[in-house]
Amino acid sequence: MSASWKQIFFQMLLLLVSCRHINTKTSVPTPAPLPPLPTEVRSGIHNGENQTEKVQLTKPVNLVLECTWTGNQNKLPNVTGHWRKDGVEIEDSLLTVPLENDKYNLKREFRIVSKEDLRNYSCVFGNEAKIDFILAGPQMGEVRDKPIVSYVGDSVVILCKLNETEPRPMSWNWYRANGTDKELIVVDTDSHRYKIKVEKKEKEEKAKLVVHNLTQADSGLYYCEADYGINTTMGHVELKVITLWEPLKPFIAIVVEVIILVAAILLYEKSQSRSKDSAAGDGTSADQTNTLTQGENNGPEESSSMRQRKV
Ligand SMILES: *[C@@H]1O[C@H](CO)[C@@H](O)[C@H](O)[C@H]1NC(C)=O
Ligand SMILES: *[C@@H]1O[C@H](CO)[C@@H](O)[C@H](O)[C@H]1NC(C)=O
Ligand SMILES: *[C@@H]1O[C@H](CO)[C@@H](O)[C@H](O)[C@H]1NC(C)=O
Ligand SMILES: *[C@@H]1O[C@H](CO)[C@@H](O)[C@H](O)[C@H]1NC(C)=O
Ligand SMILES: *[C@@H]1O[C@H](CO)[C@@H](O)[C@H](O)[C@H]1NC(C)=O
Ligand SMILES: *[C@@H]1O[C@H](CO)[C@@H](O)[C@H](O)[C@H]1NC(C)=O
Ligand SMILES: *[C@@H]1O[C@H](CO)[C@@H](O)[C@H](O)[C@H]1NC(C)=O
Repeated sequence: MSASWKQIFFQMLLLLVSCRHINTKTSVPTPAPLPPLPTEVRSGIHNGENQTEKVQLTKPVNLVLECTWTGNQNKLPNVTGHWRKDGVEIEDSLLTVPLENDKYNLKREFRIVSKEDLRNYSCVFGNEAKIDFILAGPQMGEVRDKPIVSYVGDSVVILCKLNETEPRPMSWNWYRANGTDKELIVVDTDSHRYKIKVEKKEKEEKAKLVVHNLTQADSGLYYCEADYGINTTMGHVELKVITLWEPLKPFIAIVVEVIILVAAILLYEKSQSRSKDSAAGDGTSADQTNTLTQGENNGPEESSSMRQRKV
């Protein structure tokens, strides 16, 4: 008995110790290591003319830029070299570059993680040879040039599609034009009228914004943004919400035109017949006086009715 109690006691102790060990381990704040970045290498060769290289990046990377200069006639045993960012010399980048295998080589690593890092980097040899690396983020092609037309009360699907040649973004965002600003569409707060879907297929990716119960106030520009981590790219789609009457408008306009035309013709004909009447008026005036005299002849009847009214 006592042996088993001892065993349990020891096990408990071990458990406690290990727990404390875990606790102390987790409570000590370890500096979060920088996420490992994939490395991409780009090189440029200067054969007597300054070069420009375009570097399109679609994700955060460690970018290794390599420059090779074949040199001038002098072929000095070493030249100075430095790096520039947007044309400004990078601090501490100046160094001596020896001639190796009849060439001068410069190499430097750049951490490219955000939009701010997407700049122009240049290597310069002895202030006479230069290679520019122009960094750019992903670019989305035109999404749709024609507006989407939908009716009040209906639902509409606004689609953003990336073509096969373009890389997959990390996520998508949708915005609505609000004057000159863009307002992020948040599904949770903006009622249940909005739904956001992303369809991922092997070769292509589609982002969909569904808007239910459309009103005319929903008309306007919508932006889809593909977020690549390193930078974003946007496309826009115009939505036009119209009433059912809208497509009938040209028809109604024609009907109104016809009515106006018919009315104008009728009025014209009436005025024509009236002027005929007045032209024939001299002949009928005798008849009119006749009827008048007839009316006067009914004197006793009229006077009786007048008497009745007076009562
Ligand atoms: C070139 O480098 C060598 C060795 O580092 C040095 O002795 C020499 O002075 C340098 N020459 C020039 C022109 O900088
Ligand atoms: C980079 O170089 C290109 C081409 O020379 C130029 O159009 C662009 O404005 C430059 N970008 C920056 C950030 O300096
Ligand atoms: C090449 O670049 C260097 C360094 O910026 C400059 O001094 C030189 O004039 C450029 N050469 C040509 C041909 O543009
Ligand atoms: C980064 O994204 C913004 C917004 O989409 C765009 O205007 C800009 O040109 C992009 N920058 C680069 C270097 O691609
Ligand atoms: C993909 O987009 C590029 C430019 O963004 C365009 O030139 C190309 O034609 C597009 N390809 C297809 C298949 O649509
Ligand atoms: C967007 O529009 C709403 C009204 O519809 C307004 O209250 C809001 O301030 C606007 N937001 C911006 C960023 O302009
Ligand atoms: C659309 O409107 C109808 C009636 O006004 C309502 O019953 C329905 O829940 C609405 N749908 C959404 C998705 O808001």
